[in-house]
Amino acid sequence: MTIIYKAHILYTKEQNHFEVLENGYIAVKNGIVVGVSTDLSAFKSQCPNAEVVDFADCLLIPAMNDLHVHAPQYRNQGIAMDLELLPWLQNYTFPEEMKYADLDYAERMYRRFVRDLWRLGSMRSCVFATIHTASTRLLMHLFQEAGMGALVGKVAMNRNCPEGLCESVEEMVEGYEMLINEELGMKNLVRPIITPRFVPSCTPEMLRACGELAAKYHLPVQSHLSENKDEIAWVAELEPESTCYGDAYDRYGLFGKTPTIMAHCVWTEGEELELMKRRGVVVAHCPTSNFNVASGMAPIRKFLDEGLRVGLGSDISGGHDLSIFKMMVYAIQVSKMHYQQNHEIPFLTLSEAFWLATKSAGSFFGRVGSFEPGYEFDALVIDDSDLNHDNYSLLHRLERYIYLGDDRQIVHRFCRGQEIKEPHV
Ligand code: GUN
Ligand code: FE
Repeated sequence: MTIIYKAHILYTKEQNHFEVLENGYIAVKNGIVVGVSTDLSAFKSQCPNAEVVDFADCLLIPAMNDLHVHAPQYRNQGIAMDLELLPWLQNYTFPEEMKYADLDYAERMYRRFVRDLWRLGSMRSCVFATIHTASTRLLMHLFQEAGMGALVGKVAMNRNCPEGLCESVEEMVEGYEMLINEELGMKNLVRPIITPRFVPSCTPEMLRACGELAAKYHLPVQSHLSENKDEIAWVAELEPESTCYGDAYDRYGLFGKTPTIMAHCVWTEGEELELMKRRGVVVAHCPTSNFNVASGMAPIRKFLDEGLRVGLGSDISGGHDLSIFKMMVYAIQVSKMHYQQNHEIPFLTLSEAFWLATKSAGSFFGRVGSFEPGYEFDALVIDDSDLNHDNYSLLHRLERYIYLGDDRQIVHRFCRGQEIKEPHV
């Protein structure tokens, strides 16, 4: 079945350039983009029976992708900003995550979390859950029920954490195998992702078991890397044979053997950067988290120039804002702080930030994040009439929406061609 949507269409095929179709049409067949055009007759001759849905003066853009977020930290969003990473984890984060042994609590919180991702237009997410298999399974089902894409990680951890958040290697493997069985029938929109929390939380045996699971079941991997200087020093102590933090993952098959996302990479350079390039490891840039936990500023321009793939992450609750639109703004602002320190480092442009959030991040989920033929139709319809009070150009309308807008202007959301209605809480 083919549907043709009419709206002002904006997307980024390339990092440095917006495609803009004023009063454009996009044809979508079985959830997949057939093409875009300003000429309806081109599509009408190809598929004469296609229904045309007119979004009038609205903007139509690819949906947002969140490459790094912690669902069980949702209650802590917007609080506990007074510590750096390691004491922040011990004092605020671990006590909250322990509550997810309680399935009722998990359901209450996870429903809100998924609803709010929906509200803000994030149709695909890479999510950390907790060690608890039952509540992680529940979270997978909530995404599935909503029709939203997610890679969901049961968090592996067995050292330097409270007893309630420790699990044996055997329990971790057993739990993952249960979730992998659960995935069958989920049509690939929701999948498990192997998730060692970070090196300080996982013994070598745990890291090895994670690497073996990823290889055995062809599952992607996510973790944290080089976020904070105390963390990096601790990893050097815990894994003295590793030549850098990234190497401590690499030696256990957790650094690009299967598709891999590393969050933060604030202090990644030299050998670690070279290793990431060689292994094709993807960076999840989480600018608000880097501010709040006082970690530093990730050198995104350098990563892009070196050819690393980068996406944006909200990192709730290190980050306080779940909106990927706002992550674009923060990413640009961080890059301007780098520029202030060194004028030879050009700051990010709007099209680059948009591309990071859509096509670049989306590629982790398949052909997602653009409106080129063959892409899955993940899209948002934005009615910005309340922000467009003085005949702005289409690009300025998009820019104003990114800087000033919120969920109130998002009037339709699509994931893989399906319109996604508000998940009930
Ligand atoms: N490193 C290990 N765990 C975490 C976490 O929950 N949040 C952040 N920001 N960094 C981490
Ligand atoms: Fe994180």
